Amino acid sequence: MEQFDFRRMAFYQIWIRSFADGNGDGIGDLYGVYDKLDYIASLGVDGIWFSPIYPSPNADYGYDISDYRDIHPDYGNLDQFRKVLSRAHELGLRVILDLVINHTSDEHPWFLESRKSRDNPYSDYYIWRDPKWKGETRLPPNNWFSQFEGLAWEYCPEREQYYLHVFAKKQPDLNMDNPKVREEVKGIMRFWLDMGVDGFREDVITYISKHPQLPDGIPFLPIINGQPFYKDGPNLLDYLREFRTVAQEYGALQIGEAPMTSVSTALTYLTGKDRVLDMMIQFDHMMADCFLNEYLHHPFSLVKLKRAFTRWQEALEGKAWNALYLENHDHPRVISRYGSEEYWRESGTMLAAAYLFQKGTPFLYQGQEIGMTNIRLGSIEEYQDVATINTYHSFRRHQSEEKRLRHVHIASRDSARTPVQWDGSENAGFSAVKPWFSVNPNYREINAAKEEPDPGSILNFYRRCLKLRKENETLLWGEYREYFPLHPQIFVYERSYRRERILIVCSFSKNEQSWKLPKGYAWEGSELLLGNYAEEPARGRLRPYEALVLRWNVT
Ligand code: GLC
Ligand code: CA
Repeated sequence: MEQFDFRRMAFYQIWIRSFADGNGDGIGDLYGVYDKLDYIASLGVDGIWFSPIYPSPNADYGYDISDYRDIHPDYGNLDQFRKVLSRAHELGLRVILDLVINHTSDEHPWFLESRKSRDNPYSDYYIWRDPKWKGETRLPPNNWFSQFEGLAWEYCPEREQYYLHVFAKKQPDLNMDNPKVREEVKGIMRFWLDMGVDGFREDVITYISKHPQLPDGIPFLPIINGQPFYKDGPNLLDYLREFRTVAQEYGALQIGEAPMTSVSTALTYLTGKDRVLDMMIQFDHMMADCFLNEYLHHPFSLVKLKRAFTRWQEALEGKAWNALYLENHDHPRVISRYGSEEYWRESGTMLAAAYLFQKGTPFLYQGQEIGMTNIRLGSIEEYQDVATINTYHSFRRHQSEEKRLRHVHIASRDSARTPVQWDGSENAGFSAVKPWFSVNPNYREINAAKEEPDPGSILNFYRRCLKLRKENETLLWGEYREYFPLHPQIFVYERSYRRERILIVCSFSKNEQSWKLPKGYAWEGSELLLGNYAEEPARGRLRPYEALVLRWNVT
């Protein structure tokens, strides 16, 4: 079946547990989603990506699945999902689900069977290896660290073997080299596609093929020392081709999450006859204030951010299509990172312009459109995320409690997982009862109801940007070009198409900045399409976190 044109679209991501509680138990659910579908459509997006909504023991809040073909009872049931799906479709919203197939929950029936013995129908569904022995000492098969929880191997006395978990202990990695597992994956895809789902965001999809020998990684490299042997593995393309065949029958969209992927590797998946994915969620621009991940923090560098943006824009030009995002459930809030909580409205709107007008399909994460910011809880006990908690404890030998908590405030993904701030009433209008996780105390200032009637709000700026992008051919198809790449405070990029040129000018500074039009441009004939201040801009000067979208006709 022919695929729909995802390039014109924008997506809204829902991390359901914190989105909206419709049945009054303090947990977000599909009833809440149903009630908010009109709101989502009103933003001007064209699709929804649901982070996992399946049954899960919630070791990693849904990314540890115990049943691929059902809905977590906290969130509703299949009937309620069908209602959401059909109402979304009525509103012109496509729906894509998270396909998490690198691993399951250790409570998935496949794993419960697999761990019992070495010779049952599920024995080879996971990656089992014998111990290494050093004299009498039993050691794991190799020296890999997991990304979330200590070593990547867990011993199972029943089998006298270890199983691999690249993430938490409760997330055993599936053995994709087993053709039966791949058949399962295709069955799961068909199950949801037959129901009418429009595609998948595929979780850490570049990890599913492991090096057959599972060799040792660099001994002292933390967290990712095994990555060279489980990322972009030898059979990855073949497996993705298999899954692609199923997606193609339905015209379904496939977006792959690809941590630490280089542009050249990305192109192998996104182009040619081997185009096995439509877009990739890459991480380069999430490292403008850190190395590797947010916990290894350094001061924000606009030059680093721009370099990441431009690298992907240029490399994919004419060949492949970018997925654009600044936030999702895995990263802290962007205003708190790359913007300024002090210049909250200005930086929140500027950041929107900084990415929505690049070439690609934009993704917005719940709460981003109203400018939600990081939460700073008083102790680690108040946090929920397995990665946050384990990272905090793993630094105990090197850092004081205070310092570790400060890092959590900067880096935790839990900042993206506080309940969405719908209004200024108790529990931020998220729920009638105390929510499952802390509401950010700033909800009386930052909430959707307050921003709705305000034409200058972050919320309405997102709407204006998305409308403009959708209606303007240059913003959809025009070539990207960056100016002044080394300027430490200002990001200027151009989109040009046919007889039109558009410049997007963004200040990342609390101070006024002066700037000049790039060579070949003149103020005469310029038209302001969009700005984030109510008062007219001054030529050649930018106010704090000002963003301008300027247009020229080429004669
Ligand atoms: C992806 C998800 C993240 C999850 C991890 C393991 O990176 O986005 O939330 O924890 O995979 O499934
Ligand atoms: Ca609920």
